[in-house]
Amino acid sequence: MAKEKTLDDLFLDTLKDIYYAEKKILKALPKMARAASSADLKAAFEKHKDETQGHVERLQQVFELLGKRAQGKTCPAIDGIIEEGEEIMEEFKGTPALDAGLISAAQAVEHYEITRYGTLKRWAEVLGMSDAAKLLEQTLGEESMTDEALTGLADASANEMAKAA
Ligand SMILES: [Fe+2]
Repeated sequence: MAKEKTLDDLFLDTLKDIYYAEKKILKALPKMARAASSADLKAAFEKHKDETQGHVERLQQVFELLGKRAQGKTCPAIDGIIEEGEEIMEEFKGTPALDAGLISAAQAVEHYEITRYGTLKRWAEVLGMSDAAKLLEQTLGEESMTDEALTGLADASANEMAKAA
């Protein structure tokens, strides 16, 4: 029989998954900022890039609390989401629909992160790791705020701009 695996194993695996994802996102955000046509959207991506650096650091703190080395584990989900974002950048470059597309791609990333951090925070609580739970909750809050800010930008102009012709 396979070695018994527990919530501790799930927690560590998922932590590695989001650590890999955050590092990928950190590389993708400057490209998205350069690609965006509106100044507001560029600024939103730049701001979230700085926050993402903080997310990576918080995850390193969680690894430290576990007494484990910070290590990523390839996450095909985030690779795919980012790849789709790159497709949008190429296929909608120079069109009025570009920003609406970039926002949709970024929101797919945020939602992936929100599901991961939501789960990790709860697992940390169940495992009695309240310091880790607090760190994860802080990041979860920033991902949710980013998601809302992106919805705001889509509603304020990007969607209408994409529609007009
Ligand atoms: Fe993040």
